[in-house]
Amino acid sequence: VKKIAVLTSGGDSQGMNAAVRAVVRSGLYFGLEVFGIQRGYQGLLNDDIFPMDLRSVGDIIQRGGTVLQSARCLEFTTEEGQKKGAQILRDRGIDGVVVIGGDGSYQGANKLTKQGIKTMCLPGTIDNDISFTDYTIGFDTAVSIVVDAINKLRDTMSSHERSSIVEVMGRHCGDIALHAGLASGAETILVPEVEFNLQEVADRMTQNFKHGKRHSIVIVAEGVGKGEDVAKVIQENCPAYEPRVTVLGHIQRGGTPTAFDRNLASRLGDFAVRQLIEGVSDKACGMIDGKLVATDIGKVVSTKKEFNMELYELALRLSQ
Ligand code: F6P
Repeated sequence: VKKIAVLTSGGDSQGMNAAVRAVVRSGLYFGLEVFGIQRGYQGLLNDDIFPMDLRSVGDIIQRGGTVLQSARCLEFTTEEGQKKGAQILRDRGIDGVVVIGGDGSYQGANKLTKQGIKTMCLPGTIDNDISFTDYTIGFDTAVSIVVDAINKLRDTMSSHERSSIVEVMGRHCGDIALHAGLASGAETILVPEVEFNLQEVADRMTQNFKHGKRHSIVIVAEGVGKGEDVAKVIQENCPAYEPRVTVLGHIQRGGTPTAFDRNLASRLGDFAVRQLIEGVSDKACGMIDGKLVATDIGKVVSTKKEFNMELYELALRLSQ
């Protein structure tokens, strides 16, 4: 490859900027021409493509959001749109594309490969719902934000002997709830991957109250339902604590990325470029057991991420 482009797509995540920086700087270091595509696949279809240099990614490693911006693009889900996008890239002589995003962005990238464009994907989403990588870029930062919020909630809930029902993001994946729950010592973690019974949850909370617990933290992954609905059932079945609901929402997607997310993004961005130079393409890059791996995009989009039951059971054991 001689000319590559980079885009960010779908919901943004902290560390996307560090990934863009790595793609641009590694590409330039290895003598490639690097282009940025503004607003994801929509920008591609609008031919919103511009050359990037070393300075265009200066001062962004520490910033949340994405300087390339992001968009959801219906047109690109059609074959006509995919053909048009590939033609625009060919007309510009761009032979490789790095797509940074989540599941939907991977689906788009998979389609682009079918149109003959050499494509590499980087997992940019707070949800940690991409298979063949232990972590996605932004997940660590989102978990830290949730833990920080729960620390604060715990203070006031203890003072008032209340339960805190905290709704967190993650789409269909319970990983944010699980990791934040373990790190914050939450009493209950409700995730879509594990069946639960709210009556049993309420009974356990009542037992905990009898054993001297002055507060109770219940984390509800959005894939399970609304925090408000969970709170209603708990209020009816566990009068010991008065529940208060907090929906953390998009707060989880902003702010400065952790060192972990920046380093993951930097490693994966550089890896994707080096793979393209070596003639490898149509892969999703990830990190498994600390090692960088490239897996067929098609395989990644058709494989559901495995839920870590061991971690879930540990969180339960420690929250008595
Ligand atoms: O995929 C990231 C994510 O933040 C999910 O956790 C959440 O379900 C969704 O995006 C929210 O999407 P939007 O920003 O369009 O409201």
